[in-house]
Amino acid sequence: MHAKPLIVLVLVLIANCGFWLHLFNRINATGLPRKLTKSLEKLIVAVCFVLPSGMLIAHRAALLAWLQQANFWLPESGGWFNIYAICCLISGVLLGLGWLESRRWLIPPKHLLAVHTQQHDVHRSIAGGTPADRTTRFLQCLPGNEIGQLQLTRKELLIPRRLPGVDGLKLGHISDLHFTGQYRPEHYHFVLDRFLELEPDLIIVSGDIIDHDHCLSWIEPVLGRLQAPYGVSFVLGNHDCRVRAFDELLESLAALGHFDLGQQDQWIRLQDGTQIELFGNELPWLQRRESPRPNPSLAASSQTNGSTNLRIAVCHSPDQIDWARKMKCDLMLAGHTHGGQVRFPGIGPIVAPSRFGSRFASGVFYLPPTLMHVSRGLAGTHPLRWRCMPEASLLTLRSPP
Ligand SMILES: [Fe+2]
Repeated sequence: MHAKPLIVLVLVLIANCGFWLHLFNRINATGLPRKLTKSLEKLIVAVCFVLPSGMLIAHRAALLAWLQQANFWLPESGGWFNIYAICCLISGVLLGLGWLESRRWLIPPKHLLAVHTQQHDVHRSIAGGTPADRTTRFLQCLPGNEIGQLQLTRKELLIPRRLPGVDGLKLGHISDLHFTGQYRPEHYHFVLDRFLELEPDLIIVSGDIIDHDHCLSWIEPVLGRLQAPYGVSFVLGNHDCRVRAFDELLESLAALGHFDLGQQDQWIRLQDGTQIELFGNELPWLQRRESPRPNPSLAASSQTNGSTNLRIAVCHSPDQIDWARKMKCDLMLAGHTHGGQVRFPGIGPIVAPSRFGSRFASGVFYLPPTLMHVSRGLAGTHPLRWRCMPEASLLTLRSPP
């Protein structure tokens, strides 16, 4: 067997996986009904494996002969395999260049002034551990699985505009709590205790709070403990839509006094008179606003007229970054992508439900005029994380001098 055809064959197979992974990531960002999305996901995974396997089996004689030749050319009698291989290689070049470009976003912008992290082993800190069922307990024990950990990240962010009134403001950002029942409530109590020790001035929850109705009774005791001087504001995510008693979920959150940014915008006046404008966006899954949102161009003009308000967009998905930029938001907070859940050394995550793929899976990004923070979230429906610890963040804002 010669290395040259083997290299081509490996590249074809990698390009095949890359193409279907590209579709897999984007199908989850469309807002299609959950059943249809799940069916398409299964179809994509099946085709990703069945198509190359079928090609290799159907053309095995030609391929075996090809592997004995010392050249890069495809086999002369390759038939459909050659067409498939050429399609894979073309898509590999096109998508691969885009993917390579997306890796530059792994480098944080200069607006991230400092990062301090603190780690807690949630699972070992609670008597009896935190998984609530056998499967989760088994997955928890897999080598390297960080799902039972917590990383508190304190980040200093230089906001893009000079707004001295918000210098030193501490935003607590959590996302993707995913009350599924896979973990005991004690897990969340521990996590939120550590989060509150950071003493945020304002707490933002960027969606995916709950997955199942049987966890509705957790809302009051768990989320009720979130308290901050300027309150708690939230949007909902795609998983919150799965709750059948959706009205009950909204009533439970309203009873806590938390501000529902999915229904209306919020204005918060700080002690020195500076205002914070908070805009929620739950697209593409939910649109619950009672009143139409002001035209983005009007919002933009008020900003360019010398507004000293800090404008923050709170979205579930980082895919709404273009909207936040149109709204001339200084800061956008999002979650949804869970940091990719698995991060490979050097190349980062590859799976993320976003139209940008894994580009904005987690971290700090600057797309003028908006600085975006994407949280890795606190949990997920698949209790598996490698090199991607659950995260609760404290963002201390700094104004340019
Ligand atoms: Fe989520």
